[in-house]
Amino acid sequence: MSAPKELSVFGEDYGTSELKFGPATLGNIPDVIENRGYFPDTRSSMVRMTGGPDKKLLVVGPDVSNFVEAKRDIAERMVYPMRSGVIDRDDDRSWSVVKELTRYALLRHVPDSPGFEGVKAVAALSAAAPRFMYERLFDIHRELNQEEGRKVVKAVSVIPQPFAVAISQKVLACTVLEAGAGNVQIAPVSSGMIFNALITLNRAGGDCDLVAAEILRDAGYGDLAREPKLVKLFKESLGLVPKSLKDVMADKSNPKYGAVFRVPNTRISIDLDKNSWQRFLIGEYFFDPSNEYFSSYYRRGFPKPADSYAEGRLVSGTTDMAEVIIQSVQKCSFEIQPALYRSIFLSGGGFSWQVPQGMEGSAVDSSTKLKLMLEAKGIQGVNVTLTKNPVYNVWQGCVAYGMYIPDDFTWDWDEREGWQYLDR
Ligand SMILES: Nc1ncnc2c1ncn2[C@@H]1O[C@H](COP(=O)(O)OP(=O)(O)OP(=O)(O)O)[C@@H](O)[C@H]1O
Ligand SMILES: [Mg+2]
Repeated sequence: MSAPKELSVFGEDYGTSELKFGPATLGNIPDVIENRGYFPDTRSSMVRMTGGPDKKLLVVGPDVSNFVEAKRDIAERMVYPMRSGVIDRDDDRSWSVVKELTRYALLRHVPDSPGFEGVKAVAALSAAAPRFMYERLFDIHRELNQEEGRKVVKAVSVIPQPFAVAISQKVLACTVLEAGAGNVQIAPVSSGMIFNALITLNRAGGDCDLVAAEILRDAGYGDLAREPKLVKLFKESLGLVPKSLKDVMADKSNPKYGAVFRVPNTRISIDLDKNSWQRFLIGEYFFDPSNEYFSSYYRRGFPKPADSYAEGRLVSGTTDMAEVIIQSVQKCSFEIQPALYRSIFLSGGGFSWQVPQGMEGSAVDSSTKLKLMLEAKGIQGVNVTLTKNPVYNVWQGCVAYGMYIPDDFTWDWDEREGWQYLDR
């Protein structure tokens, strides 16, 4: 009995902060769990009494929150396996978290019915992921079949996240910017990834959280600034991208910038008052942390985003985003450069900045910001599009890829494409 194709194709997007997963039948929106695992203290009496995590040595999924408050040694026991999308080869704890997350994801959806032959899983990793991460993911799926004693997964493919985005947009030649919590991948695509033009910028949503925390501290909310989840929420609701930071700063006390953030389901509210204009710093930092304003931040010890390397050349973590796009596109043949500027796609939660009503003119969305930045550098014919489901289109691309490529297209290490069958 063979299952319908939509059920048998399963997408897995391994983001730094969240794993997005599920079969093609889910349509546009996948399931999501935090990309983290908790190693409980199995000697704890509470854990034993409550039957706790089933004497499990590692917990993933919603159960993790049961442990968050209770433990003082949380930093040691909570493992976020990916740093900017990458895991070291010998980081066993992180790899075991990835394995349990993968098991959790698959077992939630894959039917345990006689005759079911297993799903075809398409996993997406950061474009910067080295070969051994691909190998490890293949192994993890193979081991899961063995441990579950049945064919949960029939075949696996692993593709780079920006390539998945290009597939989801159905455009042959384009430049994809994928920004999540940890980094931005700037990736020209022309039928496939142009790997030697890939640049990974070591800053993204998580760095904006640091700016947001700094603003909270400055405004006298030092206690709240220590709670990462609250800071992230504050950033997502009040953070803005300025059309021009200079213009905002020339008009700092404009009352329309004012805003109060009420923490859902609590009595906490945050009023930035006369510092409200600083909301714009949060978004500006994402696009241009080299803006002069931030030099005072760095002087007082605010951490600069780390540098990265592309083809052996240093890319400063503070390079403005338009500059990085230009550097990346210039590594491609001049013939396709116009096409690469003509179709720039923005994907990932890191680009999801909103323009609240009444703020038009001062605040802009990500695509407008980048278009303005590129045009200021003399690049014409630019089209920047924020993808429709920025947080989910890597997963959507995984599923589309799995539906599209033929069964007999077997894995090829040179192309890094195709199906690796687990029984061969
Ligand atoms: N409305 C919003 N405004 C600003 N930032 C947002 C918004 N919504 C989500 N984000 C940010 O997007 C980031 C998460 O994006 P995403 O889910 O694409 O990351 P990820 O896939 O888990 O990680 P990565 O792609 O780095 O491996 C977080 O930093 C989050 O705060
Ligand atoms: Mg992502």
